[in-house]
Amino acid sequence: MGKGFFISKSLGIVSIVLGVGAVATIIALSVVYAQEKSRNAEVAPPDPSASGGPPANTAPSVTPPSTPANLWDRWRLPKALRPIHYSVTLQPVLKRNSQDLYVFTGNSTVSFECLEATDLILIHSKKLNYTVQDGFLVSLRGLNGSSPPSIQATWLQNTTQYLVVQLGGQLEQNRSYELFSIFTGELADDLAGFYRSEYEDEGRRVVATTQMQAADARKAFPCFDEPAMKATFSVTLIHPSSHKALSNMPEQSDGEMWNVTEFEKTPKMSTYLLAFIVSEFTSVDNTSDNVLIRIFGRPKAIDEGQGEYALKVTGPILKFFEGHYNTAYPLPKSDQVALPDFNAGAMENWGLVTYRENSLLYDSRYSSIGNKERVLTVIAHELAHQWFGNLVTLRWWNDLWLNEGFASYVEYLGADAAEPTWNIKDLLVSNEMYRVMAIDALASSHPLSFREDEINTPAQISEVFDAIAYSKGASVLRMLSEFLTEELFKEGLHCSPRSLAQAVNKSQLSLPGTIKEIMDRWTLQMGFPVVTVDTASGVLTQDHFLLDRNATVSRASSFSYTWIVPIPWMKSDGTHNMYWLTKKTDTNSDFSMAANSWLLLNQNVTGYFLVNYDPQNWAQLIQQLNNRHEAIPVLNRAQLINDAFNLARAKYISTATALDTTRYLAKERDYLPWSAALGSLGYFQLMFDRGQVFGPMKKYIQKQVTPLFRYFEGITNNWTRVPDTLMDQYNEINAISTACSYEMPDCLALATRLFEAWRRDPSNNPIPPNLRSSIYCSAIATGGQEAWDFAWEMFVNATVVSEADKIRGALACSRETWILNRYLQYTLNSTKIRRQDATSTINSIARNVVGQSLTWDFVRAEWKTLFKQYGGGSFSFSGLIQTVTQRFASNYELQQLEQFKADNADVGFGSAVRALEQALEKTKANIKWVADNEAAVLAWFQGETS
Ligand SMILES: *[C@@H]1O[C@H](CO)[C@@H](O)[C@H](O)[C@H]1NC(C)=O
Ligand SMILES: *[C@@H]1O[C@H](CO)[C@@H](O)[C@H](O)[C@H]1NC(C)=O
Ligand SMILES: *[C@@H]1O[C@H](CO)[C@@H](O)[C@H](O)[C@H]1NC(C)=O
Ligand SMILES: *[C@@H]1O[C@H](CO)[C@@H](O)[C@H](O)[C@H]1NC(C)=O
Ligand SMILES: *[C@@H]1O[C@H](CO)[C@@H](O)[C@H](O)[C@H]1NC(C)=O
Ligand SMILES: [Zn+2]
Repeated sequence: MGKGFFISKSLGIVSIVLGVGAVATIIALSVVYAQEKSRNAEVAPPDPSASGGPPANTAPSVTPPSTPANLWDRWRLPKALRPIHYSVTLQPVLKRNSQDLYVFTGNSTVSFECLEATDLILIHSKKLNYTVQDGFLVSLRGLNGSSPPSIQATWLQNTTQYLVVQLGGQLEQNRSYELFSIFTGELADDLAGFYRSEYEDEGRRVVATTQMQAADARKAFPCFDEPAMKATFSVTLIHPSSHKALSNMPEQSDGEMWNVTEFEKTPKMSTYLLAFIVSEFTSVDNTSDNVLIRIFGRPKAIDEGQGEYALKVTGPILKFFEGHYNTAYPLPKSDQVALPDFNAGAMENWGLVTYRENSLLYDSRYSSIGNKERVLTVIAHELAHQWFGNLVTLRWWNDLWLNEGFASYVEYLGADAAEPTWNIKDLLVSNEMYRVMAIDALASSHPLSFREDEINTPAQISEVFDAIAYSKGASVLRMLSEFLTEELFKEGLHCSPRSLAQAVNKSQLSLPGTIKEIMDRWTLQMGFPVVTVDTASGVLTQDHFLLDRNATVSRASSFSYTWIVPIPWMKSDGTHNMYWLTKKTDTNSDFSMAANSWLLLNQNVTGYFLVNYDPQNWAQLIQQLNNRHEAIPVLNRAQLINDAFNLARAKYISTATALDTTRYLAKERDYLPWSAALGSLGYFQLMFDRGQVFGPMKKYIQKQVTPLFRYFEGITNNWTRVPDTLMDQYNEINAISTACSYEMPDCLALATRLFEAWRRDPSNNPIPPNLRSSIYCSAIATGGQEAWDFAWEMFVNATVVSEADKIRGALACSRETWILNRYLQYTLNSTKIRRQDATSTINSIARNVVGQSLTWDFVRAEWKTLFKQYGGGSFSFSGLIQTVTQRFASNYELQQLEQFKADNADVGFGSAVRALEQALEKTKANIKWVADNEAAVLAWFQGETS
């Protein structure tokens, strides 16, 4: 699935100064791909003896679940039958029926082979009603002259989502049969299976579309709905002639039946990658290397040119991946469709990729550089799956991380091919690695890889689509590709795992173990190490890094939480090399340093770990930042800040040392270190923005950001020119948003001036799209009711989603309690704030220091309503609890939270149960952290600003 819920542009770091080189990266990934391909071709378990193979799931002991006696009570399909081909005809009815329901009707024939004699057919089916044929839900035929056994009984086993066919005799081994069924399902607005999406365009328009991953193809037609049960599919869609039908394959031209669209037979593929769409959408098209590329969307959006950017980048990205995988694009066409209602970010259906509108459509008049980057990276991610994931598919969801981690890694390579001037690969460290480390540093994290029998139910399958699979997967694969070299892989490329191992043996590269031995440490145990080096003695140690070092880790690891750590290092004298830490503690004489010199580990942050030093070396590094920061690679400047603040949270170093890493920022112009600092200081802001520390803190940040503000004011000719590079555009946004939110007078004046100009001439917005979010926020914060009311009107009239989103966020920046309270009430009225946007709007208000306590009151008062509307809808709901409580740091707030838990025990907390427990735990930790650090932090900020 595409980058879904957890994409938030967080705080960043990175700039891979291409050490080992991009080519090695590509080759490394190709090797993983080749291994998976050989593994998948047979759909057999991996060969654990093959070195360099993918991680086998020999994970620690968890008692295997007890196995029910009836096959239909088990979640996994028996192995007796294998599907060969499906013929599916579906007709979505785009009007309500007499029972006020939207429905679809269909019929399906599946042919399958019997691998082991059996008197039972189990096929997945969810929420489908069947038309009875001769007394049964299905009919059965033998193929090639065999006569089938009689059907004794058929029924729906709703818990495990099977249609069960009990036979009077045995299906025979090596014979093939055909099962036929006629069914009806609801075309609901539930974003799953075959569902409907709606939009306004001179009246209400209905789209029928699909989201099968992970386990909802069974909601569209009966099927063997597991990824390894690949088959071919011939799809026919019946639809009004005013509508166009799309599916994975091109349509077969068939002039007579103009309202019936038949599609060519697919290659062998998994059910979760199927897609069908019936809509009035239009497209922009072109052809690249004989592949037809089309971008579909609402006719208005397509007419306005919002599909052009996607169309422009798709060709180059496909070309890049063809080279990367050394395989032509596997299908005759590539369609991409923007849907008004969509659950994840995007879905890689083979040949028919589906997106949220904001992840495919781009409008240069309204979209910021961040919107543009998102469109590019999501497209690259989904197109990467067209080979890895779709052509080559993992056997079962327990190894999802390899599929999603791989796509999340190579999306940066594909995006780089389409926008080579952006340096986008550097963003991986901030957008994936540092973001996921915050989660992976908790005792409640989990390993990348699960055992196959740990993942069974649809709920368990959904749960594996998390930040660990995507972002840690990407970070760990990047680390692998960095420590392998190009030369090695040229030999290993065409290859079985065994020939890779031979290539490793022959090469100059010396690894401390096989690739499998190294990678198992990172994929089979959760978390990551902090490597501490003492530069007096050269002694290194590694510890499992936990934000709370006293937390109890209940998950056992067969490697006792030690890792095999690749450590590229550099020194102040310019020497650099690679070192492998393979034990808990080791000594390296290279790391024993003379006075007045420094050592830096994890050069260019290629490794997934944190680094700590003795105080002397920290002092030397900080001195280097202050004297001539360019001597340290930009990625490592970000690393020093990020690691220091994390180490301080876990009490490895003092908070003052962490703050010392930010002193040089007055001279820093690069985006990545600034992002690391602003991200790290974000926690200080939350803890202190209602207390005495905030005055000096505000003064300090103003002092640090002023030179950056002046710099961009200069190079953009007073904010009228867009900076050239992506990183500079992002850092210009950092400069404005930080200067304005910390109330630097010139920034406030700028925001007011631009906003007023817009107000005088609303049809002519002079604010550059990149700066709109920050400028709107600042102007609304200082502009009182008039500014708010004007922005609200602009919000109501906005026709482009990315513009509406920017205004909606900024409306939460008001400092007026009564306005914020009114805005909170709007979130309960879906004619004012669309239901899908309500929780994110409440969250924006909670982030505002003035809105925080209002939101807490609101959530408590409206809990029953909120729970009814969003309690089942999971992700956003837990985010609500998390955001509303993120400033909590007093005993009084802790008591309120405990009271809230007790008061609502009867209503419950739905999908926010874990978030509530975490909120209690974090509040306690915050209370402790503030008590331990407030005085020192206050003194530090006062010392810097007096
Ligand atoms: C399936 O339904 C379509 C449309 O109603 C019909 O044309 C077709 O004959 C049906 N298929 C079978 C095998 O009955
Ligand atoms: C499954 O659900 C259907 C309809 O909702 C019902 O008719 C059927 O009896 C259920 N099956 C079982 C085994 O409970
Ligand atoms: C399926 O059958 C159930 C039970 O009779 C009914 O409530 C439901 O509306 C039917 N669904 C469709 C799509 O017709
Ligand atoms: C196709 O359209 C014609 C004319 O509107 C209609 O008579 C026919 O029933 C439609 N066929 C199907 C399969 O819906
Ligand atoms: C762990 O707990 C001990 C005893 O309660 C306490 O002294 C120590 O500061 C705690 N360590 C951390 C890192 O919180
Ligand atoms: Zn994906």
